[in-house]
Amino acid sequence: MQIKTKESMHAIIVDQPGGPEQMRIGEVTRPEPRSHELLVKISATSLNRADILQREGHYPPPPGESEILGLDIAGIVVGKGDDVLSWEEGERVMALVPGGGYAEYVTVPEQMALPVPPNLTFEEAASIPEAFLTAFQAVVWYGQLKKGETVLIHAGASGVGTAAIQLAKSIGARVVITAGSEEKIKFCETLGADLGVNYKTDDFKSRLAEFTQSHGADVIVDFIGASYWDQNLSSLALDGRMIILAMLGGSEVGHFNIRDLFKKRGQVTTSALRSRSLDYKEKLTRDFGTYALPRFSAGTLKPVIDSVYSWKNVADAHRRMEANTNKGKIVLVID
Ligand SMILES: NC(=O)c1ccc[n+]([C@@H]2O[C@H](COP(=O)([O-])OP(=O)(O)OC[C@H]3O[C@@H](n4cnc5c(N)ncnc54)[C@H](OP(=O)(O)O)[C@@H]3O)[C@@H](O)[C@H]2O)c1
Repeated sequence: MQIKTKESMHAIIVDQPGGPEQMRIGEVTRPEPRSHELLVKISATSLNRADILQREGHYPPPPGESEILGLDIAGIVVGKGDDVLSWEEGERVMALVPGGGYAEYVTVPEQMALPVPPNLTFEEAASIPEAFLTAFQAVVWYGQLKKGETVLIHAGASGVGTAAIQLAKSIGARVVITAGSEEKIKFCETLGADLGVNYKTDDFKSRLAEFTQSHGADVIVDFIGASYWDQNLSSLALDGRMIILAMLGGSEVGHFNIRDLFKKRGQVTTSALRSRSLDYKEKLTRDFGTYALPRFSAGTLKPVIDSVYSWKNVADAHRRMEANTNKGKIVLVID
């Protein structure tokens, strides 16, 4: 009997949960596609805040998924399972993956893959999936943002924030953002933000009230949580929708009177994309693809790249994100 030995590949390995210095390129087993999966040779991946939490040991991958960091990939299909009908080897794809992006190869369920528009590079494509799918989910699915409404987007210059600004503008909404520096605010304005508030020097609640003539924000996309809770609640318009995607500013709110939410007939939603079912993520990917791919091809939506690193310098890339310096996405080239 002949025993088939598994092939190997290079990937970023985290030696011990901890700082950026714990990451190095090592050798691991190459994944093999199951019946409905593609095998993709990765050209580029991009960083997400979740990678830092996972590296530190605070955010394990969902059960059964790859332990390797990396939620975004762009590359070429080099193999496929027996039941894959919709893709051919050699096609350029981008995808959200539950892990495994910091590697030479990854498997992707065929319904999760999107074609890379011909006008985009792999680096640009790798900066799209997690940021844009998260933003699309918040702004379109949960926020139900409509033309003429006002959306308040916190951390406007973040990967997700820069995607949310563009999606909101493509809908025809008015966009107010917060960010931590004038440079970031100016950058968000180039993406279409109508008002930028530096939260370090200014009060977004009063600036938003002034901008909307006390109407407030119909939709709030929040990553900050506790430290913004009171101001967010006061900033919500009647029938407003607040979507909380992270708790960068803490999770415990000291005092909360339900009446304050009632007065607004407000909705508060939380969501974490990574732990969603494959079915949910495939539907989100389909809806997003239908809406966004023609707009990326036409150039009305644009990937926002902050910087590009070789994956050999992954530690420097992580340090840049941890310093809150990036405007848009930090990309790693798998070279
Ligand atoms: N729920 C989900 O499904 C989901 C999916 C993807 C991402 N996320 C979350 O969304 C957030 C953005 O992700 P990303 O990858 O786009 O991040 P990113 O590019 O690293 O941007 C995060 C930005 O948030 C701002 N920030 C950090 N701490 C803050 C604080 N305490 N108060 C106010 N602002 C703060 C910083 O910008 P300033 O300089 O402007 O302060 C920082 O650059 C992350 O928290 C991530 O975990 C959630």
